[in-house]
Amino acid sequence: MVKAILLLVLAFLAVCTARDVPLLSMLNHHRSLLSTTPSLADVPINYTHVCDPTRFANQGMEMKEFGYCDSSLSFEERAKDLVDRMTLDEKVQQLGNKAIGVPRIGLPHYEWWSEALHGVSNVGPATFFNELIPGATSFPTVIHTTASFNKSLWKTIGQAVSAEARAMYNLGRAGLTYWSPNINVVRDPRWGRITETPGEDPFVVGTYASNYVRGLQDVEGAGETKDLNSRPLKVSTCCKHYTAYDVDAWLGIDRYHYDARVTEQDIYVGDFSSSL
Ligand SMILES: *[C@@H]1O[C@H](CO)[C@@H](O)[C@H](O)[C@H]1NC(C)=O
Ligand SMILES: *[C@@H]1O[C@H](CO)[C@@H](O)[C@H](O)[C@H]1NC(C)=O
Repeated sequence: MVKAILLLVLAFLAVCTARDVPLLSMLNHHRSLLSTTPSLADVPINYTHVCDPTRFANQGMEMKEFGYCDSSLSFEERAKDLVDRMTLDEKVQQLGNKAIGVPRIGLPHYEWWSEALHGVSNVGPATFFNELIPGATSFPTVIHTTASFNKSLWKTIGQAVSAEARAMYNLGRAGLTYWSPNINVVRDPRWGRITETPGEDPFVVGTYASNYVRGLQDVEGAGETKDLNSRPLKVSTCCKHYTAYDVDAWLGIDRYHYDARVTEQDIYVGDFSSSL
């Protein structure tokens, strides 16, 4: 479990330290989308910069006493410092999509659940639209885009989606962690989530996954960096669902309470490994 927490924290730190994408130039670029909204000059930048000395000072703490904010240390050392400061109860409270944070060590809360299968969506609780950002670009559903068999298109869509995601995050309207793409191989036409996926061919699914993930995660120009651990993240993706992928509860249909009998054949690791 500690390993899982460490991974989560690592991902969180990696995201928090990702290079800032210039917000206003991005929003101006998409100005036509925003023409009916308030002037951007009036819009507050609205996200929590975790390692901000003023934020610590406002809570009566000194940031330099916290190794996890020391950018001269490696991500691993910073993650270990953070996790070592937490009690077992506090660690458990960070699992699940609502990480409630640990105020006594300066760790703010974080909602991990945002969605962007084919555009930033309001399905995740970290994401919402209002008069300022009434909507994000909705690209065709994944099963349609996949039918183009065009890898660079899949990546380009990912790049456009993550530019909007990052802009929304900066204004406090979305998270940095996306529970997308859905790369479950389609096996039965009766399954209700086929439109979310790249279809029934494991090879195409894997190729789609690696291109869409690159598009969402890589900062333009940094995508070719050889050392994967030094790559900045634009936003972070999460390929779903690793196992038992139709065991969910949605719109009144509950599939949590039956005998699911998940076998090895229900887990496809091929397409998941291609997206790593
Ligand atoms: C593939 O997508 C790219 C955009 O990424 C586009 O420029 C190109 O024309 C597409 N190729 C084909 C064969 O449609
Ligand atoms: C800032 O973002 C939070 C959600 O992260 C939201 O509840 C709040 O309304 C936003 N504040 C402003 C001024 O936009």
